[in-house]
Amino acid sequence: MEIFIKILYVVAAVLFIFGIKLLSQVKSAKKGNLISALGMLTAVIAILLKMNFITGTIGLSTIIAGLVVGGLIGLILARQVPMTAMPELVAVFNGVGGGASAMVALSFLYANKGGSLETVTAVTVVLSLIIGTLTFSGSIIAFLKLKGWIKGEPIVFLGNNYLNLALLLGIFYFAFQAISLSIININEQSLLKFFILMGLALVLGVLLVTPIGGADMPVVISLLNSYSGLAAASTGFVLNNLVLIISGSLVGASGIILTKIMCKAMNRSLSNVLFGGFGQADSSSQQGQSGEYENVKATSAQEVAMLLESVKNVVIIPGYGLAVAQAQHAVQELTTLLEKRGVEVKFAIHPVAGRMPGHMNVLLAEANIDYDKLKDLDEINNEFKNTDFVYVIGANDVVNPAAIEDEQSPIYGMPILNAHEAGTVVIVKRSLSPGFANIKNGLFERSNSLMYFEDAKKATEDIIKELKEL
Ligand code: TAP
Repeated sequence: MEIFIKILYVVAAVLFIFGIKLLSQVKSAKKGNLISALGMLTAVIAILLKMNFITGTIGLSTIIAGLVVGGLIGLILARQVPMTAMPELVAVFNGVGGGASAMVALSFLYANKGGSLETVTAVTVVLSLIIGTLTFSGSIIAFLKLKGWIKGEPIVFLGNNYLNLALLLGIFYFAFQAISLSIININEQSLLKFFILMGLALVLGVLLVTPIGGADMPVVISLLNSYSGLAAASTGFVLNNLVLIISGSLVGASGIILTKIMCKAMNRSLSNVLFGGFGQADSSSQQGQSGEYENVKATSAQEVAMLLESVKNVVIIPGYGLAVAQAQHAVQELTTLLEKRGVEVKFAIHPVAGRMPGHMNVLLAEANIDYDKLKDLDEINNEFKNTDFVYVIGANDVVNPAAIEDEQSPIYGMPILNAHEAGTVVIVKRSLSPGFANIKNGLFERSNSLMYFEDAKKATEDIIKELKEL
């Protein structure tokens, strides 16, 4: 049985790695998800066998009840939560993951009460408790911010970073105390140190996330995802469980890689994201920027269709509004129609367009838009100069020229899609209201820009209708 369980561990690890590999391509992502889930099922079966749960005290019926309840919650969430609310859901997942790791470490302490721990085990218990608790409270704050239940903007007070530093020092002190005491004896006194440690980590988690807001939130979600993996890996060391160490490390590593990719896409360093307070330092200049728009030219479906009649190439830039309007199928129909008329159509995908990594890719893949038409920022940015027509559909921040032209802008330095360089730019959105970063977009005032104020799906459908009638 021992050997069989070890084989199952290896199988689970291979499935995880293979699944993650497949997740990196839209075409194979669905398969990757299934394979990773199969890996998790294999790991669960291995653990149940190892702990002798099925025949042991907990019993098969309790396990099945747990699987049914957990599975049902997962099924309902997966079906009900809209794609646009995915970041909130991921925040909750990170939070419960971190919290669960901390709870397991705590129950391990209680299971060993009266005895003592090896130094290595005591260190890993402490790590599990700190990272797990911090991830839990930080993720809950991130969830509340994204949901809009607490202020989404950075909440910063004087001495915030100093207080965080003091908390960190306190955590080091109590971690040392907890380890020193628990290697002698786990009793009320040492348990108290562990609880103080958890309390400090809980507060630190809150204070680390409250100063972050605006466009930096996805980076924090990804970082918390990485933390939840590290917490799980530490718990794996506590329990001496290989598969938990492997899966936790994979989550930890992939989370940090994604964090790095997102920081690069926004041209921000991680320390700037964590301690900068997005937009907050520039709030005065932002006031100046968010003034009224001048010389905005509105357009209609009929005019857009007439313009499209005479173009040779079109670049479509999708953004968050495409997801809100669920306009991907209409966009696919427009693409087919234009291509039938001999127009070359490409899609420009910004790495942080929408509200989650790969958001646009997923939506466009859902509408069966050929993956080869999707071009990354680096690939397409030089082509805008030679593009006749750009169709910006529900995107805003990712095409804001302030990022390259206005040093005072909170998004200055963030790479953008250079839509403004094209011949004609039609921007579809319902109003002049700002995007996620809450700043004015000078693109709307450019001489080559036309605003089409309409819901993204309705606008595209109306353009299709007009084009068909021409
Ligand atoms: P945004 O800058 O957020 O702009 C989206 C625009 O869509 C809004 O200005 C809105 O204008 C419009 N819109 C909303 N509903 C619409 C509808 N039904 N029909 C037509 N338009 C609609 O989006 P973006 O350009 O995709 O940029 C993404 C932003 O989100 C960046 O700031 C990024 O940093 C941040 N962010 C990204 C992620 C990731 S990882 N992708 C995660 C969280 C945050 P109206 O209200 O006027 O229609």
